[in-house]
Amino acid sequence: MKDKNLGDIIIEIKKLGVDYTGSNEPVKAIHDINLTIHRGDFICVLGPSGCGKSTLLKVIAGFLKQTEGTFLMNGKEVVGPDWNRGVVFQSASLYPWMSVRKNIEFGPKMKRLPKKDITEIATHYLEQVNLLKFEDQVIFELSGGMKQRVALARVLANEPEVMLMDEPLGALDALTRIQMQKLIRDIWKKNHNTIFMITHDVDEALSLGTRVLVMSSSPGTIIKELNLDFIENAVDSRTGRVQINEEYLKLKEAILDLIDT
Ligand SMILES: Nc1ncnc2c1ncn2[C@@H]1O[C@H](COP(=O)(O)OP(=O)(O)OP(=O)(O)O)[C@@H](O)[C@H]1O
Ligand SMILES: [Mg+2]
Repeated sequence: MKDKNLGDIIIEIKKLGVDYTGSNEPVKAIHDINLTIHRGDFICVLGPSGCGKSTLLKVIAGFLKQTEGTFLMNGKEVVGPDWNRGVVFQSASLYPWMSVRKNIEFGPKMKRLPKKDITEIATHYLEQVNLLKFEDQVIFELSGGMKQRVALARVLANEPEVMLMDEPLGALDALTRIQMQKLIRDIWKKNHNTIFMITHDVDEALSLGTRVLVMSSSPGTIIKELNLDFIENAVDSRTGRVQINEEYLKLKEAILDLIDT
């Protein structure tokens, strides 16, 4: 990744659509999606339930093939999942019998990195998610928030070019959720990751995203895109909470109106 810079185009999606064809009538889940993702973007996606947010994420992850349109990553057509795209789901898909460290080392091990590098990478990301003290604990002994931190570190340890997150904080209580938002924001600032995150929480999107996409109801398409700087300017660095002002409230109302219609 050394020769690539922030702002470079990583992903280009044009006129993308997905129809689900099963035993029933085909379902048009998303249509006419046009989206360019640049290195360093923190994209948050909002939209009504069932509008196709997860469908779009699955296409970007390579789990699902689009029925229409094109999807290029670094100029090449995407044919399936790859290390260069890492996914964090709502409930952490970890190996429950393995230790925290072993879960994080799993990806680098699969990539057959030298043992010394595997240990170093895992230690680095254990530190980033504040779990070094718990490295030997087994997953089933952890709280929900800790599990999500392991899931985050596990994806970070693969050093993907794009991190995809599908409502990663959706199952957490309100306080843990705010702590996790702060953690994700700090990690993004430090590592300059490229993040594509689905959320149903407008405040979460506004306080984390550099770009917020709003999708229409089903079949979903992008009806609004906002370029924001709250993440840079309006977040209290100590508490990690957005300082709510009039501009923020207006924007939040406008987004809620869009999602409601
Ligand atoms: N495997 C599938 N087969 C058939 N239809 C599907 C399948 N997966 C999703 N759908 C349909 O596609 C549409 C979009 O689903 P999707 O899960 O992408 O929405 P979503 O925006 O992520 O919703 P939520 O906010 O509730 O998670 C829905 O109508 C859903 O019922
Ligand atoms: Mg979903």
